[in-house]
Amino acid sequence: MLDLRIAFGALAITAALALGGCVTPGDKDWRASPRFGEGRTYALRYCAGCHAVEEAGPSRDPVAPPFRTLSARFPASALRKRLDAVAEHGHWNMPPIYIVPAERRAIETYIRGLPAAAAARKTTL
Ligand code: HEC
Repeated sequence: MLDLRIAFGALAITAALALGGCVTPGDKDWRASPRFGEGRTYALRYCAGCHAVEEAGPSRDPVAPPFRTLSARFPASALRKRLDAVAEHGHWNMPPIYIVPAERRAIETYIRGLPAAAAARKTTL
């Protein structure tokens, strides 16, 4: 029993370390990735009709959250899962948006690279 607990403890620590590796995107320079620019292109093409996809400005559809707020709402892999769900099942009352996984990853990188602070600054204007 004790051995089992030790094994579980080790597992938990391993899992925490593995997760920790993913939950520290702050260290990563998303903007340096070539995907950042690609993601911006896709976001403008597929998403800007409703969402604010730039560093400032309101969404065309006021219900659609500005992309710069999504990093805070969806930490780490949650954003990736949400984008997959949005692409495959749609969201709200809109049909799915057919973006291939590479496009989703690029959009994710773009959203991660958007400075969330710009959103805060904008609201004070
Ligand atoms: C036709 C309008 C429209 C388009 C185009 C659109 N969205 Fe949305 N999106 C919305 C609305 C409205 C909401 C808020 C309602 C909701 O959360 O389901 C939303 C919410 C979201 C959310 C948050 C979902 C949640 O769980 O809160 C994500 C992520 C998202 N959109 C991603 C995208 C991406 C990525 C694209 C482009 C590939 C896109 N959307 C294109 C209208 C749109």
